[in-house]
Amino acid sequence: MRIDIITCIPEMFTGTVDQSILKRAADKGLAHIHVHNLRDYAINKHNQIDDYAFGGGAGMVLMIEPIDKCISELKAQRDYDEVIYMSPDGELLSQNISNELSLHNNIILLCGHYKGVDERVREYLVTREISIGDYVLTGGELAAAVVADSVIRLIPGVMNDETSALTDSFQDNLVAPPVYTRPAEYKGWKVPEVLTSGHTAKIEDWRFDQAVERTRMKRPDLLGKDSEV
Ligand code: ADE
Repeated sequence: MRIDIITCIPEMFTGTVDQSILKRAADKGLAHIHVHNLRDYAINKHNQIDDYAFGGGAGMVLMIEPIDKCISELKAQRDYDEVIYMSPDGELLSQNISNELSLHNNIILLCGHYKGVDERVREYLVTREISIGDYVLTGGELAAAVVADSVIRLIPGVMNDETSALTDSFQDNLVAPPVYTRPAEYKGWKVPEVLTSGHTAKIEDWRFDQAVERTRMKRPDLLGKDSEV
């Protein structure tokens, strides 16, 4: 998979997309992130990429021309499944959306800034809009990093233990069961006995019951959604 990120602050991606699991995904040749600086597509020698809004009002608007130039250049090189605009009024990111996106070969994530992008970008160039929550960030960069991370970790082979992404919270509309590691007892606080019993079937049953119970306690809203229980 290839994810192209278009941004006017490429520096925001250093130290995130080149670390940890995302780095491992790139090293294994499974997923690559390419960050493009919108200023490289500026329309004039002043490196202009934004302008005042027609009709007045505070705040600058990212211009359509640099964005179109960048997207067109990318599209000339390969086909893209989606051109996604990161926006607080987009569809709310969920595990289902991440699963769906992880099946694509190439996607573009476009980060807005200031007052956003010229509406014609959304109308003519973007195929989908995603929000990471009902709050407004200063730009789409952090949201794009969240999408890239949640999608790439789902690609088979990226995680060490193939099953680990499948047992994540939300994967079956259930939150994950609790996990423990050594020591089995610390300050008198004990690990549930079943986990050290070596009885695989009982452990699986216990984990499922815990996941259901936790979902009831913490996220009862998930149980309505075509739930497993
Ligand atoms: N850009 C600004 N706020 C955002 C949000 N909540 N989700 C996605 N992109 C954004």
